[in-house]
Amino acid sequence: MLFDALIGQSPKGNTLLQPPLPRHIAIIMDGNGRWATERRRPRVWGHKNGVESVRQVVSACGEWGIEALTLFAFSAENWGRPALEVATIMELLNGSILRERDELNRNNVRFRTIGQTDRLPEKTQRLIREVRDALSGNTGLTLNIALSYGGRDEIVAAARRLAGRVARGEIAPDDIDANLFSDSLDTAGLPDPDLVIRTSGELRVSNFLLWQLAYAELYFTPVHWPDFRREHLAEAIAAFRSRRRRFGLVETESGDESSAVARVTEQQIPANPVGTQSHEAPNASC
Ligand code: FPP
Repeated sequence: MLFDALIGQSPKGNTLLQPPLPRHIAIIMDGNGRWATERRRPRVWGHKNGVESVRQVVSACGEWGIEALTLFAFSAENWGRPALEVATIMELLNGSILRERDELNRNNVRFRTIGQTDRLPEKTQRLIREVRDALSGNTGLTLNIALSYGGRDEIVAAARRLAGRVARGEIAPDDIDANLFSDSLDTAGLPDPDLVIRTSGELRVSNFLLWQLAYAELYFTPVHWPDFRREHLAEAIAAFRSRRRRFGLVETESGDESSAVARVTEQQIPANPVGTQSHEAPNASC
């Protein structure tokens, strides 16, 4: 299999996984239903098999030193799917959270969610709270699961929060800038994703992290989610490393060390480290 050499435990010595690595990877896990249908099985069979792919990418990201991994597990629109399918996804979530909790802890993983989690079944909400609290002292990978999530909903909720703060006199309208807005989103405290992966061949972002993807590199693969393995993740990271990220700036022919492009390439990210700096690149134009 292609990229067989990448199945090892560490990026060290593996040229495809040398820096710059993305700090934050976000994945639209698509194609479970089609994967199952191609095998003449019910759609939920695809979701069940997708859990192993989740395990693989979480462990790989932890081993390779990725800071944050966001997985789009259930969109706000997914509530409209057949009741059996929704119930199966919730049961898979419950089972995975319970089963993986100790392993995540051993691997120093933190756990959080984004989305309207108050719409989830009470049991799922309780498990999420328990695991989040139990792993809150960890310092490795942050595993962030998007549940009942919609990017537009998230932006509207942030606008409401800020409007409420203005109405209460806590801030003035002019205090609202990109940085404060980012800090009002569900992802507050996380760097913006550098790399977004969508499996199964669709070329859309589907209401996922609409604000946060401003400068993300997009990577699409025809592989259905239940077939996605750590070598596919390594391929996506290798593609990311081959991209020139300009953040709306220009490259100088001289390769001048002081150029903004050289700086952002070294840092891998636009000027948006966790929580404190602007999420906009200097002189960004597109
Ligand atoms: C998209 O495929 C996948 C989902 C909506 C569900 C993903 C959920 C899991 C993998 C379950 C476990 C999750 C965690 C985080 C433990 P689709 O059904 O839209 O596929 P299709 O486009 O082929 O119909």
